[in-house]
Amino acid sequence: MINLKFHCDIDASMLAVQASSAQNLMDEVREDKMAGWVSLPENYDKDEFSRIKAAAQRIQSDSDYLVCIGIGGSYLGHKAIIDALESQIKSNTKVLYAGNSISTISTQKVLDEIGDKDFSINVISKSGTTTEPAIAFRIFKEKLIEKYGENEAYARIYATTDAESGALHDEALYNHYERFVVPNDIGGRYSVLTAVGLLPLAVAGVNIDDLMSGAREEEAALMTQLTSGTETSNEEIAGSITDAIFKYAAARHILRTRNYDVEVLSCFEPCMEYLEKWWQQLFGESEGKEDKGIFPATAIYTTDLHSLGQYMQQGRPNIFETIISFENLPAPKYTNRINPQITVPKMDENLDGLQYLEEKELGFINEKAKDATITAHSQHIPVLEVIMPDLSERSLGSLIYFFELACAISAKFEQVNPFDQPGVEAYKNEMFRLLGKPDFEG
Ligand code: PA5
Repeated sequence: MINLKFHCDIDASMLAVQASSAQNLMDEVREDKMAGWVSLPENYDKDEFSRIKAAAQRIQSDSDYLVCIGIGGSYLGHKAIIDALESQIKSNTKVLYAGNSISTISTQKVLDEIGDKDFSINVISKSGTTTEPAIAFRIFKEKLIEKYGENEAYARIYATTDAESGALHDEALYNHYERFVVPNDIGGRYSVLTAVGLLPLAVAGVNIDDLMSGAREEEAALMTQLTSGTETSNEEIAGSITDAIFKYAAARHILRTRNYDVEVLSCFEPCMEYLEKWWQQLFGESEGKEDKGIFPATAIYTTDLHSLGQYMQQGRPNIFETIISFENLPAPKYTNRINPQITVPKMDENLDGLQYLEEKELGFINEKAKDATITAHSQHIPVLEVIMPDLSERSLGSLIYFFELACAISAKFEQVNPFDQPGVEAYKNEMFRLLGKPDFEG
């Protein structure tokens, strides 16, 4: 379960009232036709789940690399989890990423890394028409066909598409690629716990059963909260709301109405960089519309304490910070070291002045850096702390569910649609015009 701690002066009764509003907005979220992800941890397609595991095993047995082609919600979630668990998972097949930009340098880097090794492709696009992945798919499909011939190449392509339509869906049927589905009622940025994320994750050695269990635990706790109300008055209901999801959404709303319109999500573990990027996309695309929304920014500490830290401590105070921390951080599982904990070495001389840290573990020092940052930053800006039990599949499943629901409720607080992204079309239309796409000239 995810916990939330406040290092700021949000009035308890105001928080309780807004948490109660968040609980009410939850009903609006659940009634939306794009809210399939709310009950997904319980109601996922078990047959497809088994097929995903079988496909992952096949890929692990015949491929050195799986090239995952996708962008936005079809990319960030699984990259986030694989990176976060990099010290805890092992697989013979490395997951590579393409189609999340149109960069020659990035594309060439992936082609070079594959070289003449064995590989398969997982092309992921709900619409099936997104330009970046469509271009990359052509490039890597050509390489696959060159290497294996058409029949084997097609058997090495796994397509995750819309259930019923779209160019990729149609191509997958035509060429008989193994196909997985993004359910109709789940949009891209809420889809990491569908086949979109699960296939690459299983290939990378992530325990997808545990991931789903973590999300299920968060969902179950929430449902208990929703059904346990025996209170008779609004005040009683407000006072009884303990769920951290509602409190986080409520705190964001309160802070925004106090003109804090930038949120920085930070963490003291660099392996969480893409988890932060996933969060940024989730909140940015869900809330940022109709001239509204909190701008989602990210930081990795202590690295960024030597850059953004200055602004956080003394810059314009329109920022609040949400720090992700861990109750217990597991030691790296796969390492050549007998003792995976790293300590500051003992030395005869004290030329660098570090004697006071001798034999202290890096993890201990990092934890003190976090505590110090919370104390320092909270003197200038509001600080929230989202606490994960540990860094595992289970707690990441919980965290994903936590942020997805808090995000949809936050958008409802802003009275915007959490599930569309109409603004993204503007650059696309102009790019298509410049490139001379039929029907876009003029
Ligand atoms: O959240 C979203 O819907 C978007 O970010 C999409 O995931 C992204 O644009 C990719 O779309 P598609 O999967 O259709 O290629």
